[in-house]
Amino acid sequence: MNISVILAAGEGTRMKSRVPKVLHNINGKTMLQYVIEASKNASIEKNIVIVGHGGNEVKNEFKDVDIEFKTQPIGEEFPYGTGYAVMQAIDYIDDESNVMILYGDTPLITSKTIKEFMNYHRENEYDGTVLTAYVENPTGYGRIVRDEEGKILKIVEHKDANENEMKIKEINSGIYCFKGKYLKYALNEIDNNNAQGEYYITDVFTILREKNCKIGVCLIDDSTEIYGVNSRAQLAFCEKVMRDRINKSHMERGVTIINPESTYIGSKVKIGIDTIVYPGTFLKGNTVIGQDCIIGENTIIEDSQIGNKVDIHSSTIEKSSIDDGCHIGPYAHLRPNSHLGKNLKIGNFVEVKNSTIGNNSKAGHLAYVGDADVGENVNIGCGVVFVNYDGRTKHRSVIEDNAFIGSNSNLVAPVVVKEWGYIAAGSTITEEVGEGYLSIARARQVNKSGWVEKKNYKKDK
Ligand code: UD1
Ligand code: CA
Repeated sequence: MNISVILAAGEGTRMKSRVPKVLHNINGKTMLQYVIEASKNASIEKNIVIVGHGGNEVKNEFKDVDIEFKTQPIGEEFPYGTGYAVMQAIDYIDDESNVMILYGDTPLITSKTIKEFMNYHRENEYDGTVLTAYVENPTGYGRIVRDEEGKILKIVEHKDANENEMKIKEINSGIYCFKGKYLKYALNEIDNNNAQGEYYITDVFTILREKNCKIGVCLIDDSTEIYGVNSRAQLAFCEKVMRDRINKSHMERGVTIINPESTYIGSKVKIGIDTIVYPGTFLKGNTVIGQDCIIGENTIIEDSQIGNKVDIHSSTIEKSSIDDGCHIGPYAHLRPNSHLGKNLKIGNFVEVKNSTIGNNSKAGHLAYVGDADVGENVNIGCGVVFVNYDGRTKHRSVIEDNAFIGSNSNLVAPVVVKEWGYIAAGSTITEEVGEGYLSIARARQVNKSGWVEKKNYKKDK
């Protein structure tokens, strides 16, 4: 059986946050979620997450995911450290299992690397293997100390390293693979005689070497994969690496991204081929975008479904759906639960909220459509307001197919405009408009000839 033990109990003091470190987001997903997914996708059958600081929050976040939690006791009376954290999982480990240790704050690791690393460990029949990398700046990482023959002697923490060890650029990724039997043996032997007074999992290698166990070192080419997050600056670095990966994968699958540097696509977003994404665009959450769309510039789309051949410019779309062939924006705002049919036009400064609008309808400029059911081929003129709120309660409006709502009209809900109902510009509609009616609800125009003459206004100029 392949097991992973994912360490996520640390406090993350350097983040200076109330949120547990592993719950910080990178491109719309928590760090821990990336690690869990990478582990599962590497065919590791059992995944145990060690929680401690903020443990309930972490557990709650993953309550629907098939993983085991073990809680590391936290407090002055308890020991601390990565070694102590792994000890919490000891009951799950049998002698024959392969145990992969992963860190919840190392989110860039891929399932491909975990798989290759596991195979390397197994094929060479090592008892313990560490994944390492060469980095330009090893500050903060444990260093890999080798003997003259190149065999690993020990892993020394930055804080415990002497001057020579400090210069070593081969670092410990914090990712290891062990034979269950030897890991259990070594965990019983480690102590906390070090600069931090912690139980270090890294000491397992010294213990295994003394027991003449077979120890492997697996050097990774792409050191960004093992980048650990301890601070907000490191979080931003991971965000960038992940953003590049996500954008690249969309481009490989047939999406044009004009400027990947300024395009932010969440890790769960799906985009169809030949869609073009312009700069300044944020695509978030469970957003799905169809084919042949033009998205952006400067557009935010969150948890929404967009059909094919839709174009959206400088607009914000939240928790809504837009069917094929619609033109949205610039400067439109679809607030949650708005559902647009096919070939609609929602233009400048139009806000839609909690409404459905049928095929081929238009609201070209400066309108508010709130709490409405609008049919097909409806024309909503400039400046139309769906007056949905009486100060206490929201009410719905129903506008049936082929209706025409003249500019600057108010529709005071609840109100119904039947099929082919026409509303004259500037009307305030409070009662049902019948099928095929024209409703005019404004004061009649009065023309007073010679009025200016009479007032003698011209002589003042
Ligand atoms: C650790 C390694 C270091 C390695 C680096 C890679 C040790 C002693 N050091 O250092 O060699 O180069 O990772 O990123 O292992 N955790 C617990 N319980 C604890 C302590 C920590 O679950 O009691 C978890 C943390 O939540 C974190 C992970 O273990 O996810 C690593 O802990 P951290 O304190 O960040 O270790 P580093 O100092 O980065
Ligand atoms: Ca760390």
